[in-house]
Amino acid sequence: MCGIVGYIGYSKADNVIISSLKRLEYRGYDSWGVAISEGGRLNVYKQVGAIGEVESYELGDSTIGIGHTRWATHGKPSEVNAHPHLDCNKRIAIVHNGIIENFLPLKERLIKEGHRFVSETDTEVIAHLIEKNYKGDLEKAVVAALPELKGSYAIVAISSKERKLVACRYKSPLILGVGDGEYFIASDVPAVLEYTNRVVYLEDGDVVTITDSGYEIKNNGVEVSRKVELVSWSIEDAEKGGYEHFMLKEIHETPRVIEDTLLGYVSETIDLDVSFAAGTSEIIFVACGTSYHAALVGKYVIEEMSGIPVRVEYASEFNYHPAPLSRSLVVGITQSGETADTLEALRKAKRAGARVLAITNVLGSSVTRIADYVIYTRAGPEIGVAATKTFIAQLVVIYLMAAKLSMLTRSEVEKLVLELKLLPERVRRILDKEDKIREIGEFLADYENMMYIGRGLGYPVALEGALKMKEISYIHAEGYPAGELKHGPFALLGKETPVVACVIRDNTYDITLNNIKEVKARDSPVIAIADEKDEEVEKYVDFVVRTPEVDRIFTPVTYSVALQLLAYYTAKKRGCEIDKPRHLAKSVTVE
Ligand code: M6R
Repeated sequence: MCGIVGYIGYSKADNVIISSLKRLEYRGYDSWGVAISEGGRLNVYKQVGAIGEVESYELGDSTIGIGHTRWATHGKPSEVNAHPHLDCNKRIAIVHNGIIENFLPLKERLIKEGHRFVSETDTEVIAHLIEKNYKGDLEKAVVAALPELKGSYAIVAISSKERKLVACRYKSPLILGVGDGEYFIASDVPAVLEYTNRVVYLEDGDVVTITDSGYEIKNNGVEVSRKVELVSWSIEDAEKGGYEHFMLKEIHETPRVIEDTLLGYVSETIDLDVSFAAGTSEIIFVACGTSYHAALVGKYVIEEMSGIPVRVEYASEFNYHPAPLSRSLVVGITQSGETADTLEALRKAKRAGARVLAITNVLGSSVTRIADYVIYTRAGPEIGVAATKTFIAQLVVIYLMAAKLSMLTRSEVEKLVLELKLLPERVRRILDKEDKIREIGEFLADYENMMYIGRGLGYPVALEGALKMKEISYIHAEGYPAGELKHGPFALLGKETPVVACVIRDNTYDITLNNIKEVKARDSPVIAIADEKDEEVEKYVDFVVRTPEVDRIFTPVTYSVALQLLAYYTAKKRGCEIDKPRHLAKSVTVE
């Protein structure tokens, strides 16, 4: 997803901007560009592909500029489509994240008015609209252009004539970094952490004008003050810390993430406040990708523990289902807090009068402005595109919610808390034995198709395991309820299609073993994920990934960590770009 950076201060702007753009690489991009304002003109540099390792770029000595990493939506990745985009007279340059839905009629009108366009992008209309309104004051020109735009945007504009940056946001993330005598504007916090930990989270409708002497934020033309937050993440948090990939580092952070998330909500007992759910008739989870799988685990656990009916919807499909009732609790799960589909689903829920809860990992993210209630996971920044530690943190919050919504007795809650507190140690034991998982991962690297199966709680785990595998290793991997295979997918089984079976020792156990036998009878190699006390399963499969014994409801945690490692080592053996898989973005801010 596109990344934005703007800088005004005393350092060489091109170097600051490029180093900040590199910190946004995790969002995914296919081209990039920088513009600086120097001596009454704009110097622009654009390139397709990665920024690369060059530490210093020579655009000029200017100390003001903007930069962008582009993830193509309108128009292919190319130099001409890369941002920054300029007006006809090359006096104004802008970078943009989001989508301008009405760009075509705007473009047609602007062309009739004499504007010349060079790119296929929706973004270019913004530069021309600002140009049209520019009479020597960039802020006024931006403000005049905004009402014409339909869609979502985070924009930063610069002009060749004034020493200022003007930035604004609507439904796309944007933060302001406040340094000593220098200011930064960016899509996300890691971009500015090298320079400052003081950050303002801009809100929808905010327009910020930044000069050397400070910044002013207006919303609807009225000056507003926004809190400067101190970000506690260190720059090291956002870097690899000795691991070959962010993904591996982040999997290894899981025990600490569980501890940190528990620390926030558990003392002797569970302190999480769930009063937002009082009198709710149903819970509806909306989420995408991995967060959707966390929601599916939530369905099993919450229904089982509390008896409250739970619906789980892909956020992108939510619009096509009946609106929630006013007594519903709609829960958006999104680690980034910026996933456009999830935000839109929650807006719909609010319009219907439902209560809205967000579970997110990012303080001040867009979802926190939409939701009535927010529960934070405490996973720290996740840079690898594949969600790993944040998924586990989501599960921990879901367990706490389920327990608080349930009719458990005090001693049952205490037992559950005890089990939760043991989870970090259980996960450490999986990480200590990752060599065994690496061997199996390397075995899988030669295949092109896989199936993942599970029943009950094992089903969302299978879906998530398959998503992880396909996302980073590019092996075609499908997750199925174990009972569904015989209704069609059996036709794909054979020695060229390994099957990963998530085997949980609960009421699904015997029947899952039967399903495994059916698979083996069709020659597929089978890898079972099972706990260390399971003495039966190894008789029927080719490999077993052993995980420590935990209460059955926590198997999604231990099994998922094992499956994340399995995908990681398969992808590594295949030589894939693990942290930045092709075509994917960390934060999907378009619908
Ligand atoms: O930030 P979100 O949790 O809303 O992101 C949702 C999905 O885009 C995300 O989980 C995606 O599926 C992951 N890359 C999977 O590893």
